[in-house]
Amino acid sequence: MANQNNTNQTRSQLPLDQIPADLVSLADIEHYSTQHLSPGVSAYINGGVADEICLRRNRLQWQCYFIEQRVLADCSAGHTRLELLGQALDHPFVLAPVAHQQLAHPDGEVATAIAAAALGGGMIVSQEADCIYSDVVTATDHLCWLQLYLTSNEQTNLTKAEIAARTGFQALVVTLDAPVNGIRNRLHRSGFQVPVSTNRLSGNGLDERQRKTPEQLAPGSSLVFQQLMTAAPNWQTMAAFVKHCPLPVIAKGVSHPDDAQRLVDLGCQALIMSNHGGRVLDESVTPLHALTRIRKSLAPDIPLLVDGGIRRGADAFIALAAGATAVLVGRPQVHSLAVAGAAGVARMLRILRDELEVTMSLAGCPTLASINSTCIYQSAREQQLC
Ligand SMILES: Cc1cc2nc3c(=O)[nH]c(=O)nc-3n(C[C@H](O)[C@H](O)[C@H](O)COP(=O)(O)O)c2cc1C
Repeated sequence: MANQNNTNQTRSQLPLDQIPADLVSLADIEHYSTQHLSPGVSAYINGGVADEICLRRNRLQWQCYFIEQRVLADCSAGHTRLELLGQALDHPFVLAPVAHQQLAHPDGEVATAIAAAALGGGMIVSQEADCIYSDVVTATDHLCWLQLYLTSNEQTNLTKAEIAARTGFQALVVTLDAPVNGIRNRLHRSGFQVPVSTNRLSGNGLDERQRKTPEQLAPGSSLVFQQLMTAAPNWQTMAAFVKHCPLPVIAKGVSHPDDAQRLVDLGCQALIMSNHGGRVLDESVTPLHALTRIRKSLAPDIPLLVDGGIRRGADAFIALAAGATAVLVGRPQVHSLAVAGAAGVARMLRILRDELEVTMSLAGCPTLASINSTCIYQSAREQQLC
């Protein structure tokens, strides 16, 4: 599989007319993608942790709120534009970091970046991307951040940050919720081996997190505690990273208000409420609940982003009403890539944006700034369910 900018689609020529006309929702795209993905790759992309309780809750969380419909509101000057850490975006859907996108389509992350830019949106590139970082950065003139996993080695972390800055990324997203992988039983059952990141081959310059097998450890020691958690960052490493990083730092995978405050105090410029798409801790707090708690406890000007199960424009509306500045979309980008490469991702983003615009109009909110907590409510029954 080629590790270069091998897409021949340019932004102005996305063959949107070649996408089946009956793909009108993200659920349709997901359904259709199964024809293009092997069972093993499907298990890797769609699976969650353990019993997948958290994966199901991620979808359910958005169904626990009603949106207040308002009549006769003038939304004729409406738009979905926003500014995020100084960068202009046409809509609040940012593509979440999703590793190994060439499993879905040979054009991988380059195609995703082209689609994000075509729709005036942003993308966070996974540390474990298959394409060469500079090719991805070149494919977009919009928000393009790199996601990193830190190690316990401060120098290694800073070297990564310097490579990212030289490559042209505008900010770094540090994922904190997965110092160890969750117990992904669906993936284990499938027998699929996640490929070693092609980063090293393609010259991205960042090694995947180093893993040892149990046989490589001293007898009696724990793979989790003595290997993975020993190599994992802690508060001290994070503080040093934020202090010396040449780029703004955003923390991803935050759910506790105390952690959120401490990360902001260290200098993080934005936070992402996420449970890694239900792939790490099955009993984790839902991102929407985390967002609600953290929004209440932090200064209102700290940008908060949220992800997990966002599949409709109305889900994004609820997130924005609960205090999010923007939302991330994970799996749908690889489903769309599998179906139609860059054009598929562009179609997916257009669907979400159209749905959000319709929801805003029906809720009487002409701009993102006019969406607030009074736009949604939970009945006692919904409170019990969620
Ligand atoms: C196949 C796959 C790979 C992922 N890879 C990464 C990654 O490399 N780094 C990261 O921070 N999050 C990763 N995530 C989590 C996403 O960034 C995001 O938090 C999650 O997918 C959002 O939930 P959703 O898929 O329901 O939209 C991955 C998720 C999936 C499904």
